[in-house]
Amino acid sequence: MKKILTGISGLLVLSFLFTACYNDNEYDLYPFSNTCDSSNVTYAQTIAPMMISNCNVCHSTTIATGNVVTDNYDGLSTIAKNGKLWGCVNRDPGFLPMPDGEAKLAGCDLGKIKKWINAGSPNN
Ligand code: HEC
Repeated sequence: MKKILTGISGLLVLSFLFTACYNDNEYDLYPFSNTCDSSNVTYAQTIAPMMISNCNVCHSTTIATGNVVTDNYDGLSTIAKNGKLWGCVNRDPGFLPMPDGEAKLAGCDLGKIKKWINAGSPNN
């Protein structure tokens, strides 16, 4: 019995090691570096301004490219919940890289988006 338990916990440790390596993007490795303040992430103060700077020019209520709206909460929470917001900004395989034609967002900004999505993309 003891051997089995040791074996199981060994496997658990190994699987943690593998998943850690699998997700080794900038944000996962350095989620809270000194230059990146991810405390107090809110929709109004953090996420909406980021959308104004990077997304709304193509995804506003009036010009909703690809039927995607990022300039209001309803539109943005839709893509936050269906996975496309993270997939596109993090440039995961199978998603269109966003912002279109621009560099990937900074790791700090990605971290804040991730934090907001993980919190359930609240309207705060
Ligand atoms: C220069 C214009 C432009 C900017 C800026 C831009 N996008 Fe897009 N976006 C597009 C285009 C073009 C498409 C593809 C539309 C289509 O063909 O359906 C698209 C599609 C998308 C989609 C849908 C992808 C899918 O697979 O259905 C999402 C989500 C998205 N953009 C999010 C964003 C976010 C978030 C930002 C800001 C970080 C952003 N976009 C910035 C032009 C832009």
